[in-house]
Amino acid sequence: MAATKGKSGGSKRTGAAPGGGGRSMTVTVKTAKRRKLSSTLWLQRQLNDPYVQEAKRQGYRSRAAFKLVQLDERFHLLRPGTRVVDLGAAPGGWTQVAVAKVRAGQPKGGRVVGMDILEWDPVPGATTLQGDFLADDAPDRLKEALGGPADLVLSDMAAPTTGHPSTDHLRIIALVEAALMFAGEVLAPGGAFVAKVFQGGTEKTLLDQLKRSFTTVRHAKPPASRAESAETYVVAQGFRGDASQGDPSGK
Ligand SMILES: C[S@@+](CC[C@H](N)C(=O)[O-])C[C@H]1O[C@@H](n2cnc3c(N)ncnc32)[C@H](O)[C@@H]1O
Repeated sequence: MAATKGKSGGSKRTGAAPGGGGRSMTVTVKTAKRRKLSSTLWLQRQLNDPYVQEAKRQGYRSRAAFKLVQLDERFHLLRPGTRVVDLGAAPGGWTQVAVAKVRAGQPKGGRVVGMDILEWDPVPGATTLQGDFLADDAPDRLKEALGGPADLVLSDMAAPTTGHPSTDHLRIIALVEAALMFAGEVLAPGGAFVAKVFQGGTEKTLLDQLKRSFTTVRHAKPPASRAESAETYVVAQGFRGDASQGDPSGK
């Protein structure tokens, strides 16, 4: 078995599971011959991550689900009846949270449409699409599945990192800009936009565009977002209507 208790019995950890409490032992992982150190550290982190354990307990497909739960607690984004587009949705944690909160598929419930470039298992109550959001046909596919305006566009999209910081930065910005442009086409007035960005990465032009299009724009790093990750979220609320949209460069 890969996981073993540390030789000294492991160290104590406080505040283990989110919303849970209690103390649990830290699990350490022995480096197997064929496992790289980075994989060993990843496995060790997963085994000791209270959000991973809680996601499993609550039936969420990813620990990322808690990021949306926490963003929603703070910004009140998801209500029964809310119509949601979830970009970069696989494996489906955010979609699961959105379906439950908007009561998708129930009388007077909302609607949730998710898309990911990867194949992913359907989430009951949602429309799950596979496709590259940057592909020409993606916006139309999403709009068709939605069948009307959206109240909330979520983007947790993250391109695989190349290890080349400026390339990674450009890729992330391209995804957020495309998501924002799409949001401008589908959001109903008063709607909201939430996107993963990276600290120091919300470019001035993007921020200016957000401020023109929405009445409030804030950054938030939910507690479930790992402290060592540069990831943060931009939360824009109070969409002013598509007349405020235009060239993201602000021209
Ligand atoms: C951090 S994960 C999303 C986790 C998800 N929110 C959850 O709760 O399970 C980022 C996702 O973005 C997707 N992604 C990256 N680039 C994309 C693109 N161009 N089009 C669609 N999905 C994309 C990745 O495939 C990946 O599944």
